[in-house]
Amino acid sequence: MPKREARRVAGSEQVGPYTLLRVERGGLDPGVPGQFFMLEAPGRLLPRPMSVCLAPRGELAFLIDPVGPGTRALCALQPGGRIGVFGPLGNGFRLDVERPLLVGGGIGVAPFPYLSQRLGGPRAVLGFRSAWHAEAAVLVPNAEVVLEPAYVTEALPAAHGVLACGPEPMLEAVRRLTPHAQLAWEAPMACGYGACYGCVVEIDGALRRLCVEGPVLAAA
Ligand SMILES: Cc1cc2nc3c(=O)[nH]c(=O)nc-3n(C[C@H](O)[C@H](O)[C@H](O)COP(=O)(O)OP(=O)(O)OC[C@H]3O[C@@H](n4cnc5c(N)ncnc54)[C@H](O)[C@@H]3O)c2cc1C
Ligand code: FES
Repeated sequence: MPKREARRVAGSEQVGPYTLLRVERGGLDPGVPGQFFMLEAPGRLLPRPMSVCLAPRGELAFLIDPVGPGTRALCALQPGGRIGVFGPLGNGFRLDVERPLLVGGGIGVAPFPYLSQRLGGPRAVLGFRSAWHAEAAVLVPNAEVVLEPAYVTEALPAAHGVLACGPEPMLEAVRRLTPHAQLAWEAPMACGYGACYGCVVEIDGALRRLCVEGPVLAAA
């Protein structure tokens, strides 16, 4: 069951351009990899959705790309500060996959450290726009890094169960190549639990609340 709690910030570390924000877990369940928490960003009205990146004993960690005011406020939190968190929310990845392969791009690698741990460290192919961004690959065991102008979809080995997270064009390309993949999608979210309809997306002609039916959906 998702819970809403105020937790203490345990740490904040730079990983390339991203921030790994570590929060004391308290009584929170980390959920399944691919599920997310709504994090209250100081000074912002609405919380921001973030995937669980790591769930070591006693902590939850989130890898955050500072793209706007909410994410910048989260990245500025200091150890000892307080943060409101709510989760775990949504549907994560199915873990009953034969020969799993993690395919990610940019900040889409965020759920992979936890996912990799739960799957026993499978192979991963991760794409980044620069070597600086690719520093995040250190969080994912057995990762092969692809830098632009090359794309991860050019490096996909055959006959794997693909679990993917990244920008929409990458997910669309993965979907065309591997129709049985599991894809973690993104949409702006205000509530995170199905009440506001702010995250409705059209997928294959059907309107879906991504926070309830996703964020992980089957490609086919
Ligand atoms: C289920 C889920 C899990 C996520 N996990 C992570 C994560 O682990 N790490 C991370 O850094 N980010 C993650 N995100 C994206 C993150 O929530 C947004 O980047 C953040 O809410 C932006 O807030 P902001 O105030 O910083 O920027 P804003 O000013 O709100 O937005 C900055 C720019 O990003 C666009 N944008 C904002 N939110 C989204 C979104 N959800 N999808 C696509 N475009 C968006 C805006 O249109 C704008 O162009 C996740 C999103 C979802 C839906
Ligand atoms: S974020 Fe409110 S319904 Fe999905």
